[in-house]
Amino acid sequence: MAKNPFVPFSRPWIDDTEIEAVSQVLASKWISTGNRVREFERSFAEYLGVKHAIAVSSCTAALHLSLVVAGVSNDDEVITTPYTFTATAEAIRYVGAKPVFVDIHPDTLNIDTTKIERAITPRTKAILPVHIAGIACDMDAIQDICRNHNLVLIDDAAHAIPTEYKGQSIGNIGDLSAFSFYANKNLTTGEGGMITTNSDAFAKPLRTMRLHGIDKDAWARQSQRDIWRYDITTEGYKYNMTDIQAAMGLCQLMKLNKQHERRRNFAQIYQTELANFPQISTPAVPDNPREHSWHLYIIQLHTGNRDEVVASLREANIECSVHYIPLHLFEFYQERYGYRVGDFPCAEAAFERVVSLPLHPGLTEGDLHTVIAAIGKIFNA
Ligand SMILES: Cc1ncc(COP(=O)(O)O)c(C=O)c1O
Repeated sequence: MAKNPFVPFSRPWIDDTEIEAVSQVLASKWISTGNRVREFERSFAEYLGVKHAIAVSSCTAALHLSLVVAGVSNDDEVITTPYTFTATAEAIRYVGAKPVFVDIHPDTLNIDTTKIERAITPRTKAILPVHIAGIACDMDAIQDICRNHNLVLIDDAAHAIPTEYKGQSIGNIGDLSAFSFYANKNLTTGEGGMITTNSDAFAKPLRTMRLHGIDKDAWARQSQRDIWRYDITTEGYKYNMTDIQAAMGLCQLMKLNKQHERRRNFAQIYQTELANFPQISTPAVPDNPREHSWHLYIIQLHTGNRDEVVASLREANIECSVHYIPLHLFEFYQERYGYRVGDFPCAEAAFERVVSLPLHPGLTEGDLHTVIAAIGKIFNA
């Protein structure tokens, strides 16, 4: 029997615009941090309506620097979700703090805000929610808790562009927000990240810390008489973004609304067509106005074995994934922090049921119907 054409899970949306922009940077011979990075930061901040955007080498770096600048350090605790990629909790470990997990809401897969206050101790310094798949967390509730307990709100916005919560862009709500431009993200620079904040007090040291704590980068020193002279004014890290990445990022930003429209249309097709299968829940989109970035399209199975469903889709030439294996189930998190199976039942139950279907702007409606037909075959067989 002839196989369907291969349907990839995720592909970056790149065309000649990015190739031309990157080539121009290469031809200019200024290939590390320079004016392209500054332009990307300005445009990104403008897109979100936030005061500051600081470009870095990854979202992991963005989370790390955000925690440093927020003053989180040894023996502090940071409340987050176990239902995320390891980078979220890894960054908390970088500063010597403990990731304190709080279970998720079974519908949105985001941190359950009704369970956060129970996890607060005198050591808690920050809350680090993750907008899973691109659906905003309940930011009003999290902001209230942060205000009442004097905690910093750092949100992991790796999936959340463009995501809105009650008309405000994610990236313009938390004290600090961390974005990812990794290869599979809605806006990609291959590797890369951005910190956004409305706080001058956070932005100033962040700009210095991301490049060794040096007060002026090489681009800024070009016009000064002693081109070699600089000061180290703060603790430093090697987390700067290059002009090659930023040139690509600027092109991706120009296309962001267009790619979002395609993702949203595709998600709508899935939502409508998959509603016909009682064996599946489609992603929940809560009532209060939230613009979903549709970074991931995660269905939950009510019946059948998740691994077998993934294998059947794979057999049908459809690439799927599973988001996420909860962090407390990993050996490292159990050994380092004493987490155990059973600690976060909603995260564990979701993990057993979830399948992430292909969703990216390079798909065609035909690809979606291939996926929907394959699901039909699995459940109606
Ligand atoms: C939720 C989440 N946070 C953080 C990251 C880390 O992003 P980066 O690879 O840019 O460091 C990822 C990457 O996939 C992610 O999915």
